[in-house]
Amino acid sequence: MTSTLLSTSEYLIVRGGSTLTGEVEISGSKNASLPILIATLLSEERSTILDAPYLLDIKNTIELLENMGVEIKREGNRIEVNPERITNCRASDENVRRMRASVLAMGPLLVRCGEAIVAMPGGCSIGLRPIDQHLKFFQSAGVDVNVKHGYIYLERKEKKSVNFTFDIITVTGTENALMFLSSVNKESVLNNIALEPEVMDLIEVLRKMGADIEIEGRKAIIRGREDLSGFIHKVIPDRIEAGTFMVGAYLTGGDITLKNVIKDHLTSIIEALREAGAVVEEKSVNEIRVYGSGPIKPLNIETREYPGFPTDMQAQFMVLLSLADGVSVIKENIFENRFQHVMELKRMGADISVKGNTAIIKGVRNLTGAEVFSTDLRASAALVIAGLVAEGETTVRDIYHLDRGYENFDKKLAKLGASVQRLPSL
Ligand code: EPZ
Repeated sequence: MTSTLLSTSEYLIVRGGSTLTGEVEISGSKNASLPILIATLLSEERSTILDAPYLLDIKNTIELLENMGVEIKREGNRIEVNPERITNCRASDENVRRMRASVLAMGPLLVRCGEAIVAMPGGCSIGLRPIDQHLKFFQSAGVDVNVKHGYIYLERKEKKSVNFTFDIITVTGTENALMFLSSVNKESVLNNIALEPEVMDLIEVLRKMGADIEIEGRKAIIRGREDLSGFIHKVIPDRIEAGTFMVGAYLTGGDITLKNVIKDHLTSIIEALREAGAVVEEKSVNEIRVYGSGPIKPLNIETREYPGFPTDMQAQFMVLLSLADGVSVIKENIFENRFQHVMELKRMGADISVKGNTAIIKGVRNLTGAEVFSTDLRASAALVIAGLVAEGETTVRDIYHLDRGYENFDKKLAKLGASVQRLPSL
């Protein structure tokens, strides 16, 4: 397991003609685990996180916290945190470059240290990824913000209540603000917040720590406390991992049952799959069966903030629609550059054209295996499932992207009948 996490030059060989059948256990959510791990800084008491997936991003977050002096013990999917001693209040360039979600440390560090020094995150393959909304919130909350030498220097000048409205809906921006305000013992309001299940899971944790948070539509009313307590929390299942396997099942004409899901988090994905002709049976609130042998019907998809169709499922559906009976349209409304996987899919024979943030996908009869490169973690998963149905072999390179966001993805696929081999680069 450790070798999987540490090697960055491995690649996968995927053989076409695989049909996914059987049962798969979905792991805990990466995007819930990251903010919840960092929220442990808000208290000096110990906390325990259960079902945290064993991923590169989690490893990076653990290192980020250990660099601040926090003691952390990880046993499989259980992480115990003792944040009693903080020796420094910074998220280094190395931490932030490896994982931009390190910016989530700004809120908790300001609470614990009264200041935070966090490297400016770079862009990434899916877009510039600015954090202006995060900084605008902190300035409105009495924090001095200065950017110099590639670092953001934040200093808390006063503890005030705020009534802040985000100009755009931002997941980690909302999470940073919620963590910060949970420690202010005055009533504050946040408007136009993100409502992703991962944000709601963080809110559950902040409530366990002692904050009083009410949600009304896209408004949060927060009454914080200065003496927040530790917590024990089992993170929610990863809805994007679940969605990825659901697409893989229908794409390969298979039949899989997913365990450890929360079906209410998957509504937009289930609707899109059913519209494309898949059969999706809700066997219970935590178990879903997906099967169907097509023909795959074309779709018109627009990515939106939750509960809309998730941008993190866009690449996976593009693979599915590459083999649909007709022409599909995907509009990417969240990120300005999240079509990097289009060129890779065209190498496999897909017929896709891109105009601005809109992709037109003309279904083809089949894809052919090729050597392809991962560009972001969801695109890498999409290329792997494309390889399951392509004729011949597909080599998926740079799968450290995959290991950032999917726990044992190749092993889980192999258990479902896929022919997937992980090899170290020569
Ligand atoms: C979170 O990223 C997720 N990451 C992303 O998942 C996910 O794709 C994204 O939300 C959208 O759902 C984590 O939760 C760790 P945003 P985040 O702030 O918070 C713009 C994955 O695959 N924006 O909601 O960084 C931004 O550029 C990753 O697991 C500003 O302009 O996304 C984007 O266009 C990829 N200013 C849009 O808003 C800001 O201050 C949404 O970004 C903040 C964001």
